[in-house]
Amino acid sequence: MPLPCSIELDSPGLGWSTLAPCRTLERMYVSEVGDSGSSAYERLIGADRVSGRLYTDPAVFERELERIHHRGWMFVGHESEVAAPGEFVTRRLGRQPVLLTRDDTGAVRLWSNRCPHRGATVCALDRGQTRFFRCPYHAWTFDNAGALVALPGEEGFGPTFDRATHGLAPVPRMDTYRGFVFGSWSHEGQTLAEHLGSARDLIDRVCDVSPVGEISLRAGWLRHRIGANWKMAAENVCDFYHPPITHASSGLMGGVPPDYFSDAYGGVTRDLGGGHGEVDYRQTQGGPRTGLGPHGFIFPNLFIEASSIFVIHPVNVAEMTHLQTPITWVGLPEKMQRPQSRRFATAFGAAGVIEPDDAATWERMQLGLQAGEPEWVVLERGVQFDHTREGRPLDEIVMRGFWRHYRSLMTDEAAAK
Ligand code: FES
Ligand SMILES: [Fe+2]
Repeated sequence: MPLPCSIELDSPGLGWSTLAPCRTLERMYVSEVGDSGSSAYERLIGADRVSGRLYTDPAVFERELERIHHRGWMFVGHESEVAAPGEFVTRRLGRQPVLLTRDDTGAVRLWSNRCPHRGATVCALDRGQTRFFRCPYHAWTFDNAGALVALPGEEGFGPTFDRATHGLAPVPRMDTYRGFVFGSWSHEGQTLAEHLGSARDLIDRVCDVSPVGEISLRAGWLRHRIGANWKMAAENVCDFYHPPITHASSGLMGGVPPDYFSDAYGGVTRDLGGGHGEVDYRQTQGGPRTGLGPHGFIFPNLFIEASSIFVIHPVNVAEMTHLQTPITWVGLPEKMQRPQSRRFATAFGAAGVIEPDDAATWERMQLGLQAGEPEWVVLERGVQFDHTREGRPLDEIVMRGFWRHYRSLMTDEAAAK
């Protein structure tokens, strides 16, 4: 049923004070936002602000899983993690557990980590190498090409039982780009190339640091369980407004000049479309570089962080898992690789100085947003440059691009194109 305040929220150019009198009614409306139609999201995502409810409403989270994490493409892992036949890693694709394997023929495959019998995960390890996965419940056993190859008491299932129809279920779509493996639970939709768009350049640039154009991600992953909504990590990738504040102490320790994270230092922040974006310091001459690769975000869960790779796994509306691993560039001289690995350990390792600063801040944001008022999260910095899609390094251009794409997915806008 339309509410009186919906009329005001649709009106452009409203100030905060105009919105305030409607807040109670608006909240009634928003509490149903996850299951309601697209119009609710059009109201809650403005050109330069978004509703805090988008980070705290469980119904919003459920709709995100369906429309973003299950319909779209998500980064899963890297082919180098399963370099040899039989190697595997377990991950999540959206909320669902998946198993990335290389079978005995050398093919990379992506499976639902779910026993076709009664649903137990068939693999509980983070990574390893095996020819078979044996379910712990009734011992149905699958080879690394997903086929059901053994089960106890098979004769009890009768003559019509067919092993061939009881293998592991493949994730409907899997595709790779330069070793980066992506999956989608949807049988149809954009191709991976369409999804990546101009963000493919981020992958090209990180690979091309290597003299042979290859990276390897075999160092293992750090996993941080953080009590904050997944979008905070996504937005943070290209938020260069916060480092001189949140990371002031680590900046001092690392000898980063105070003006490094400032508009005056140079560099640009760039909305790459499709929710992707980057902060690019390539044109800045003579200054410190934080890593060899680019610094960019590939929607909705991959952060290429100059010398490392981050992945965001949503857990629930107020919790995520943040995975991080250092990049090894194949063929890169040791004297160039070593500082990158050391930088990762110092910044993001178990006792790193960067990740805890960010995680603690996101948890404080999550707590603050529970307050509900004021309703809006402000993203106004550099809005005057939005028409060019490029702004100063500290501008919030990539965040606004993220939200434009998010809105197109959460409404029916994308399907209508
Ligand atoms: S649930 Fe896997 S064998 Fe029964
Ligand atoms: Fe940070």
